[in-house]
Amino acid sequence: MADKLIIFDTTLRDGEQSPGASMTRDAKLRIARQLERLRVDVIEAGFAASSNGDFEAIQLIANTIKDSTVCSLSRANDRDISRAAEALKGANRARIHTFIATSALHMEKKLRMTPDQVFEQAKQSVRFARNLVGDIEFSPEDGYRSDVDFLCRVLEAVIAEGATTINVPDTVGYAVPELYGNFIKTLRERIPNSDKAIWSVHCHNDLGMAVANSLAGVKIGGARQIECTINGLGERAGNCSLEEVVMAVKTRKDYFGLEMGIDATHILAASRMVSQTTGFLVQPNKAVVGANAFAHASGIHQDGVLKARDTYEIMRAEDVGWTANKIVLGKLSGRNAFKQRLQELGIQLESESDINVAFSRFKELADRKSEIFDEDILALVSDESITHEKEQYCFVSLSQHSETGERPHASIVFTVDGKEVRGESDGNGPVDASLKSIESHVKSGAEMILYSVNAISGSTESQGEVTVRLQSGGRVVNGIGADPDIVVASAKAYLSALNRLHSKGDSVAAQG
Ligand code: KIV
Ligand code: ZN
Repeated sequence: MADKLIIFDTTLRDGEQSPGASMTRDAKLRIARQLERLRVDVIEAGFAASSNGDFEAIQLIANTIKDSTVCSLSRANDRDISRAAEALKGANRARIHTFIATSALHMEKKLRMTPDQVFEQAKQSVRFARNLVGDIEFSPEDGYRSDVDFLCRVLEAVIAEGATTINVPDTVGYAVPELYGNFIKTLRERIPNSDKAIWSVHCHNDLGMAVANSLAGVKIGGARQIECTINGLGERAGNCSLEEVVMAVKTRKDYFGLEMGIDATHILAASRMVSQTTGFLVQPNKAVVGANAFAHASGIHQDGVLKARDTYEIMRAEDVGWTANKIVLGKLSGRNAFKQRLQELGIQLESESDINVAFSRFKELADRKSEIFDEDILALVSDESITHEKEQYCFVSLSQHSETGERPHASIVFTVDGKEVRGESDGNGPVDASLKSIESHVKSGAEMILYSVNAISGSTESQGEVTVRLQSGGRVVNGIGADPDIVVASAKAYLSALNRLHSKGDSVAAQG
């Protein structure tokens, strides 16, 4: 039987560290359910000690997910590790992932610790964690840029203390495939007890090589776990992309010879869910999940594919979840059909009253738009006002006027902590006027660093999905809004960003 390759997803932890990608508790649970459907082996659900919000999200995911192992990151100290163990108490299978930096640069400049202190702390932390949970992963942060002799000493010691997985991060995306693969191989060959642990790769994409490096870590180095994120989400240029690495191993089974538990038919839904939740759009030419990934525009290619698919296709679109856009529901669909579709999409609203709110929003949308696609439903339930998330600002109505040669004007009604307020403003265009009309009342002073509009299901009849990214006081947040009217979608996205700006408490950065 072929070796098993473990897929460890860290969208909810390393992915969330991407500026503006922070997710609400309910959104994280929705994504965790989709990851379970995808049959990922391990879900890194967050970093329990970083904030109460993260702790609660991990706890909720641990209590809900049955098939995948649920993992929490923790720095290598007793407090963080206890917090992780506490959050994971309800899990069927729990893992603690503890880390400390081992490169000379990080130890000296960031931790201000000597190598001997780091060595002792790594050992002591794994011993402490092992008394709480049986499944322990250890990561030497900036491992790839660490001195190999020192790294061997640390990793041998933590395996002796009971670490069951050893993960070797290329934290800053500096590696190249052959060297990274050989680095893992050297560690495994030189460490006497290396066979007592599963070896894992964790690559960042700063030079665009995260997937290639991870695959080299597997092929050359003998690693049997890959850490990755949906859409390659993650800090800076992101992490190794799950969909790419999984489809590489599947499509080139002749070369890798590895088995995975993944059900790839759920990949596209996972990609869309993460994109819709975070507001990070997927580029059209992105492998596997980009809109053009299976589109053949040139006449020669179209002709070839029509004659024999494999002339230009190495994977089948349907194997990763692409189907023709389905009209799933319409104006005449009833509550039961709507509820069933939510279930099929893996969306579980907390109460009947949430379903009622979502259903009435669906009816409003169906009145304005005859064809409702899965993407519309996902956008609808991503709207925080349907779920139990606390909302300070809530959209009510908007009117705006624009005419060639005149300066556009907007007037908006929204609620602040349940109380209705109005704002008015002129602007360069209708969107600008609408957002300024919100600011005229809120006066957040936040700087807008991104504004983007995307047609959810392609045509001009589709809902517009708007992402607004705001920066204020060192924090960056994304807000997302969807509506057939893109000016309304923009106002909703702006209010959603303000809600996020004013809600989540400070959290501790994993690599700070
Ligand atoms: O990139 C990294 O080093 C990490 C560790 C915390 C595993 O994400
Ligand atoms: Zn990382």
